[in-house]
Amino acid sequence: MQNYPMPGHPASLPEIQIAHAGSMGLLAALHTRCFTPGWSARDMARLLAMPGSLGLIAVRGEPVGFLVGRQVAQEAEIITIGVIPAARATGIATALLGDYLLRLSAQQIAEIFLEVAVDNHPAIALYAAQGFTDVGRRPDYYTTVGKNGIRTDAIVMRRRLPNANPASENGNSTGD
Ligand SMILES: CC(C)(COP(=O)(O)OP(=O)(O)OC[C@H]1O[C@@H](n2cnc3c(N)ncnc32)[C@H](O)[C@@H]1OP(=O)(O)O)[C@@H](O)C(=O)NCCC(=O)NCCS
Repeated sequence: MQNYPMPGHPASLPEIQIAHAGSMGLLAALHTRCFTPGWSARDMARLLAMPGSLGLIAVRGEPVGFLVGRQVAQEAEIITIGVIPAARATGIATALLGDYLLRLSAQQIAEIFLEVAVDNHPAIALYAAQGFTDVGRRPDYYTTVGKNGIRTDAIVMRRRLPNANPASENGNSTGD
């Protein structure tokens, strides 16, 4: 699945691979390069063992980013997404999100949610560029390591997904 829109980054498409049982160490290593504390291979295995979970790995010469999402009934959520620092701002996260959204649309998933820290401006900009809108707030949701345990609110963002099966649309759109 590579035909996602990537305005601004036409020459740098990464390959998007689906994580498998042997990918847990790699996912944990990528996560640890993006978040403190990082998640372990065991954490990743536990996440990806949940029904409806999917892990994606972006490869551009080497693994440079990842996404873990989960779908339940007609909804999905982004559990975590990250790109290693050296590969940021080159369209990797856009490619990962685009790939995941296409997969969800193909399965008739209606909407997708995520939580993001109010001060994570690159991530908020990424999600806004991908059509997510702010639909709520979770006070004191994150505890930031290294900042004396200061707590940060999360913004809840949602994107409704187009129905990828035109035959079943029949004017019953849930679009924003
Ligand atoms: C957030 C993150 C995943 C973005 O990944 P990325 O591959 O650099 O993002 P992209 O290159 O696809 O950028 C897509 C859009 O996001 C926004 N964006 C990305 N980095 C940005 C930055 N440093 N400042 C402002 N906007 C930024 C821009 O709108 C950009 O579109 P543009 O290139 O057309 O301007 C990455 O910075 C990261 O891994 N951060 C640490 C982990 C994290 O915070 N994950 C999200 C948790 S909710």
